[in-house]
Amino acid sequence: MATGKVSYRHMADTTVEDLRLLEEDFEDSLQAYPDRLLAAVANLANFQGPLQVTRLEHSLQSATRAYRDGKDDEYVAAALLHDIGDELAPYSHGAMVAAIIKPYLGERLAWVIEKHGLFQAYYYAHLAGGDRNARDKYKDHPYYDDCVEFCEKYDQNCFDPDYESLPLEFFEPSIRRIFGKPMSFSEGLGD
Ligand SMILES: [Fe+2]
Ligand SMILES: [Fe+2]
Repeated sequence: MATGKVSYRHMADTTVEDLRLLEEDFEDSLQAYPDRLLAAVANLANFQGPLQVTRLEHSLQSATRAYRDGKDDEYVAAALLHDIGDELAPYSHGAMVAAIIKPYLGERLAWVIEKHGLFQAYYYAHLAGGDRNARDKYKDHPYYDDCVEFCEKYDQNCFDPDYESLPLEFFEPSIRRIFGKPMSFSEGLGD
């Protein structure tokens, strides 16, 4: 546990000792990172609106279907987390979650999650006068098919109250393994 306070009131006055304190605190804080992510997923139970399932159930369905299809732990984690930005970033939740997962799950899954809102619009945009094929501007992107697949198999179909999802606890160990991996303080500098 980091103890003591930094000496500065303006960051311009940071000392080497201050940096040591911050580094210690950063490492402590990372240890609890999986807990914060799991809490963010659990918090989706508070949001349902007119949907037939809560947003937590939607996320569990997404992760469960991915798991049952034999997707790897990283993919399943992306599925579980893909909507945790819904309430904090109503116009850019995909980009928000992509930023969260990218250092841990890599570029492909980050891209899929970043774009899933646009790709998912394929299923309803035409009903509101929009272009359901707007995603096709990414047709030549190397991850285009991955995002189409994610939306088709693990997102648009995950609003079913009769589907039997695995509980959040089932996914806990892999979330702890993936997001508990130590990162150095310097990797986070400047971000
Ligand atoms: Fe979403
Ligand atoms: Fe979703």
